Amino acid sequence: MAKEINTIGVLTSGGDAPGMNAAIRAVVRQAISKGKKVKGIKRGYAGLLNEEIIDMDATSVSDTISRGGTILQTARCMEFVTPEGQQKGAEICKKHGIDAIVVIGGDGSFQGAQKLAALGINTIGLPGTIDLDIACTDYTIGFDTAVNTAMEAIDKVRDTSTSHERCSIIEVMGRGAGHIALWCGLANGAEEVLLPEKYDYDEQRLIDQVVEARKNGKQHYIIINAEGIGHSQSMAKRIEEATGIETRATILGHMQRGGSPTCKDRVYATTMGALAVDLLCEGKSNRVIAHKDGEFVDFDIDEALAMKKGVDEYMYQISKSLV
Ligand code: ADP
Ligand code: F6P
Repeated sequence: MAKEINTIGVLTSGGDAPGMNAAIRAVVRQAISKGKKVKGIKRGYAGLLNEEIIDMDATSVSDTISRGGTILQTARCMEFVTPEGQQKGAEICKKHGIDAIVVIGGDGSFQGAQKLAALGINTIGLPGTIDLDIACTDYTIGFDTAVNTAMEAIDKVRDTSTSHERCSIIEVMGRGAGHIALWCGLANGAEEVLLPEKYDYDEQRLIDQVVEARKNGKQHYIIINAEGIGHSQSMAKRIEEATGIETRATILGHMQRGGSPTCKDRVYATTMGALAVDLLCEGKSNRVIAHKDGEFVDFDIDEALAMKKGVDEYMYQISKSLV
């Protein structure tokens, strides 16, 4: 029979995402409601290795559900990728009486959780990334807020683009994943989306389309470019030179990672945080919580990391046909 868990640690790792605080709050309060102690580990795995560990009670998470960012801070930590770093991390957990950890982050952070589980620390991962690029789940904490932030910003760029009859290239986040770009493409009615998963960038085709659209009376031409494609400034310069149509590039950047989480991000992150504690109390470890086909479920981390995900094919097709 699995050893009973008395103390649960919680950390955020990798890029921050709106809703992480709601998840932390749920972990803390659900654990307390089940008679467990909670320790917050600051700055992800870096903070674990530096023993930046604090006691948390119900009031530690007061007034946090509506705040973006993460009250525990986050970091990337190369030392933890090494077996020595992982061993040290597991020993520090034992030293501080931490029997289990809830890791809120992306695939990289889950690999850290997987290593800790193998070293005897029970772990549950919560999908936290604005990129929506975790294969086992249809939802990641922060995506809904980020894509709404980007959508609102793009609406604003579109207004001025129409007034000046310009072409606008708007670069959204997503180094390896085009979900934000594709969703904005549909939500903003963009003329073109450029995604890392569909790297079929043909500048001459794009130039011809911009010219054709102007001939057909379009007052603007909105191109949503994913960060993974990049080069928005130089692309704008070349399009302007080739078409004679004024072209501007706007890089939305880190504003997409901040801000008060949407209702969906608060509710889903809260549910996932509470569920993580429930699973730990049932003796489960090395699991990731997901929202799949309309339900909250959990997967083995090894299986979750082996899954693959691309952008939705039908959404991609209609981003081309609805222009
Ligand atoms: P994300 O969790 O958003 O995918 P990263 O890929 O930057 O972000 O990973 C976050 C952190 O997780 C890394 O800085 C590192 O500390 C840890 N991590 C990443 N890969 C591994 C690995 N293979 N083994 C152990 N820890 C890892
Ligand atoms: O993973 C989230 C994300 O915002 C990506 O979309 C982006 O490529 C990356 O993080 C940027 O990370 P950094 O915090 O290092 O700027």
